[in-house]
Amino acid sequence: MKIIAATKNKNKLREFGEILKGFEIISQEEAGVDIDVEETGTTFEENSYLKAKAIYDITGITTIADDSGLCVDALNGEPGVYSARYGGGGYDDKGRVQLLLKNMKDVPDNERTARFVCVITLVGDEGIITARGECEGRIDYEPKGENGFGYDPVFFVEQYGKTMAEATPDEKNAISHRGKALKIFAEKLNKKEYN
Ligand code: IMP
Repeated sequence: MKIIAATKNKNKLREFGEILKGFEIISQEEAGVDIDVEETGTTFEENSYLKAKAIYDITGITTIADDSGLCVDALNGEPGVYSARYGGGGYDDKGRVQLLLKNMKDVPDNERTARFVCVITLVGDEGIITARGECEGRIDYEPKGENGFGYDPVFFVEQYGKTMAEATPDEKNAISHRGKALKIFAEKLNKKEYN
């Protein structure tokens, strides 16, 4: 089964492919769709649906999209659905990490809890499938590690005793929000649990 992954993010595309083995995952680019869908929703569920639906409507090919982000308890769940645009859109990954560290500078150890959230939505001829995954961690005090992307260098994972950017891709996939959502998603897809 051919599925378009509605993302231009090469890291996400690689993670989709690594976990959804057995499906032919093609990128938005390979499908010839060059649009940026506006993420106007206020929840991960809404935004992932908007992205998948827009590309399915154009191509008629089953499409999956994810919406993900980092929810920090001490910041009332921010940056949340605005993780990619934290600080207003003028920063790159490193800049957003620095902004996060600045906003967390007075937050003590025991209040630095956070979670990555990922919601995957498929839209196709047979219906819609939605799956959510979460990964618990703590915001570290400085960036560490070179793997992954985004907030991985400051997301400390208790189980591994290191940041997500210090974890190997396999270690990350085993516990990550995207890994969990994709596994739940793959089970639902195999059982054809459409809504
Ligand atoms: P979106 O899902 O493309 O809207 O963007 C989500 C944003 O959340 C990314 O740009 C990253 O800043 C952050 N994010 C999502 N997943 C991860 C992850 O696995 N590691 C680090 N940051 C992530």
